[in-house]
Amino acid sequence: MIKNSSEAYGWVSIALHWITAVTVVGLFALGLWMMSLDYYDTWYKKGPDLHRSIGVLLVLLVIFRLVWRLVNPKPADLPTHKKWEKVSAHIAHWLFYILIILMFPTGYFITTAEGQSLYVFDWFAIPSSITGVDLMADISGEIHEIIAFTIIGLAVVHALGALKHHFLDKDSTLKRMLGFSSKSTSE
Ligand code: HEM
Ligand code: HEM
Repeated sequence: MIKNSSEAYGWVSIALHWITAVTVVGLFALGLWMMSLDYYDTWYKKGPDLHRSIGVLLVLLVIFRLVWRLVNPKPADLPTHKKWEKVSAHIAHWLFYILIILMFPTGYFITTAEGQSLYVFDWFAIPSSITGVDLMADISGEIHEIIAFTIIGLAVVHALGALKHHFLDKDSTLKRMLGFSSKSTSE
């Protein structure tokens, strides 16, 4: 099933979810690692190039995901979920979308502060716009880092929530994001 139904996630949503999850964690690890390299390391330049390119593609993917969600609404919440669980899960989902998209402007301003373009592999370049602002790269870098840690913190809580539903509540929350969902909405 390509599209979501009122009870189950279709494979497009499932694939988008897991590709996003793996890429976010990968970019976080790559970001921290590349910042620890010294100038003579072969990855000193390659690391950030890769990080920026994959980052821009991720943001495009998340925008596509939002459009997909708009034309193909997500399955209904499980009836066994408590009100606070539904509300907090929805807030977390929207925060993910907003925070991941915010990684673009902050990453863009770190890259382009001195007038350089932002290259996405050698496929295309996004030109610089605002330059010459004092500390622009530093401040954008701080915000980029804070948002990165916030996304990862949120992901830990989000994953713990999914595991709690799976192992303690024994409902189908996680199974349906893995594509194992049966028609039943309560297990
Ligand atoms: C950085 C990593 C992750 C991000 C950014 C992320 C993001 C999201 C978002 C935005 C949704 C809402 C999907 C929709 O639009 O319908 C969602 C749902 C979900 N995620 Fe994640 N996720 C991440 C990691 C994980 C992990 C590690 C797990 C499992 C251990 C997980 C399990 C789930 C489940 C079960 C749902 C479905 C919730 C429901 O049906 O209401 N996610 N995730
Ligand atoms: C949207 C496209 C993105 C661009 C253009 C981008 C760009 C950059 C750049 C240029 C740096 C180097 C920072 C510096 O020199 O101070 C950086 C660092 C970093 N990025 Fe990204 N990034 C993007 C997305 C992401 C995403 C989605 C994550 C994951 C959550 C992430 C996590 C990090 C981390 C953890 C660092 C290291 C922060 C530090 O220690 O200062 N980035 N990024």
